[in-house]
Amino acid sequence: MIELTVAEDAEAAARLCAERIARAIDAARAERGHAHVALCGGETPGRMYELLAEQVADWREVHLWLGDERCVPLDDPDSNHDLLVRTLLARIPADRPQPMVHAVTRAGDGDPPAAATAYERALRATVPGEPFPVLDLALQGIGPDGHTASLFPDDPALEERERLIVAVRRRKPPPEGVTMTLPVLRAARSLILLVRGADKAEAVRATLAGPSVHTPASLLGEGAHVELIADRAAAAAA
Ligand code: 6PG
Repeated sequence: MIELTVAEDAEAAARLCAERIARAIDAARAERGHAHVALCGGETPGRMYELLAEQVADWREVHLWLGDERCVPLDDPDSNHDLLVRTLLARIPADRPQPMVHAVTRAGDGDPPAAATAYERALRATVPGEPFPVLDLALQGIGPDGHTASLFPDDPALEERERLIVAVRRRKPPPEGVTMTLPVLRAARSLILLVRGADKAEAVRATLAGPSVHTPASLLGEGAHVELIADRAAAAAA
């Protein structure tokens, strides 16, 4: 099920999302001694990551994963890892405990399938859970076409039921990427979609209208509870 939360504007949506993630981190660490959080790329989460850096006082035992990554070098401005470095990690004082960032280390090697296999191995070796590793929280966005992570409309990757990470052709630059698949995203204890702007209103309406392979974000709600945090403009057609 996907539940819509409407915030006044993009800043309020970012702040609410940062509060949700900070609370999920505290709860996971209190219950299990560690927290595993998958984050996303794109334009929307940057401001939220800045706020998250302020919200979380202590990053001990916090593991940060990426729900998808673009197959470019990790220091490329197009890389989601680089986005985290610029917006989140840069705002955590160096004298404080740092989060454990699990980068897609082979993203820039020019071999997306090998990068996917290596990242899946790391995820299975580090995140507890059977049959799929159970993340404490997965944050994702929604594209204007309804894609989420690097899961695009009608893509065969939507049918994947065993592998956790697959290499895909992205319909948004850069063209090559690796992405978490639906089973591992849906296995997360908490799932949040963060969306802003009028250009996303139709995709938000379609995401809430029920599961469809034409709107991959809508498939996250199958067998999982998802909170879709949107600003007023993005929620206008909901
Ligand atoms: C990516 C993302 C992707 C993103 C949406 C929304 O690597 O590009 O993970 O799924 O969340 O495309 O992107 P914007 O926030 O830029 O609109």
